[in-house]
Amino acid sequence: MIKLHEPFISGNEWKYIKNCLDEGWVSSAGKYVDLFEKKITKYTGAKHAVACINGTSALQISLRLVGVGTNDEVIVPSMTFISPVNAINYNNAKPIFMDNDDYYTIDVNKTIEFLNKKTRTILRKKIPITINKKTGNHIVALIVVHLFGNATKLDKLIDLCRTKNISIIEDAAESIGTFYKSGRFRNKHTGTVGKIGCLSFNGNKIITAGGGGMILTNNLKIAKKAKYLTTQAKDDPISYVHNDIGYNFRLSNIQAALGLAQLESLPEYIRKKKIIHEIYRNKIDKIKGLRISRTSHFSKCNYWLNIIEIDKKLSKKDFLKKIQYLYNNGIEARPLWYPNHLQKKYKKCQTYKLHNVKKIYQSRLCLPSSSQLTPKQQDFICQKLNNIF
Ligand SMILES: Cc1ncc(COP(=O)(O)O)c(C=O)c1O
Repeated sequence: MIKLHEPFISGNEWKYIKNCLDEGWVSSAGKYVDLFEKKITKYTGAKHAVACINGTSALQISLRLVGVGTNDEVIVPSMTFISPVNAINYNNAKPIFMDNDDYYTIDVNKTIEFLNKKTRTILRKKIPITINKKTGNHIVALIVVHLFGNATKLDKLIDLCRTKNISIIEDAAESIGTFYKSGRFRNKHTGTVGKIGCLSFNGNKIITAGGGGMILTNNLKIAKKAKYLTTQAKDDPISYVHNDIGYNFRLSNIQAALGLAQLESLPEYIRKKKIIHEIYRNKIDKIKGLRISRTSHFSKCNYWLNIIEIDKKLSKKDFLKKIQYLYNNGIEARPLWYPNHLQKKYKKCQTYKLHNVKKIYQSRLCLPSSSQLTPKQQDFICQKLNNIF
């Protein structure tokens, strides 16, 4: 089976993990956790990085760090892996679902329109807070998701959110290696522009720690609190006094060792993935009715996953039949995620003009995109696509 995305182990992974085992540092303390955090700050340019057990826990903690609590609201795109939506729920808050644009990131213009028309900002104890006119609840944060490695355009949104005192959390789980190449945030890594950014090192990401995540921030106070909360909020390590409710969310040394070795190979993986994208683009754009999704002009993408755009919306049956055909031929292709505003637990939540989500769902297909994918495998995949489209 040609998998959608597999880990590529090609560098110091064995050596670093063996070193953990040889030295006996296998759990949540050890040099690799610190080293991994340090190398991530160097690579991304974030001032601070705090390692977590996964990207979801990084998001959960980040929302808590910006003050999201019971009955608060958080704006999030409907089309994304469910993790940021659940992270809102874990903090007893509610999502407001926003549309996605043609690059699969949150529709910035609609978000701005929503904030201008559907919210009002008042002063409470001299601090601005933004209220949702419909529910009367406090909108504390906005999660942007740099989906498939595509950066969200934040230039305008960041100013508006600042005046409305809404914290921007960047879900950069899929976008390690993606940098802005023009505009106000030129050369900045995704996840370092908002108040907090979150990375994931899940097995299906461009680099993996066998599971893992990272909180990025330029704010020392937030970084310290993140470390405190992810390590059980221990105030006295000898008497075990805990003045807050923390979590056991610290990454293990073995995972960090794997992550560090993978990080060393990241530039090489991105180089390979750019070539994979170009090969797909050349071949798939020649198949009638298909086109490979473009990356935005303002960022240097990591090309995590390649997406096909099908020019007409297929029936569910027809769509699944095509996926099954590919599967039967040893190709793992996958639709986009079921939109979150339709999920059982979220279908009563507020939505705003979700026109594009409805359009892209069932007319997009994710293709195998591992760094080690060969041109021969790509040829085979494109031949099979040609047979069914
Ligand atoms: C967009 C997005 N956000 C968050 C996550 C959560 O990361 P993790 O699986 O490490 O919890 C993932 C992927 O797994 C993701 O794709």
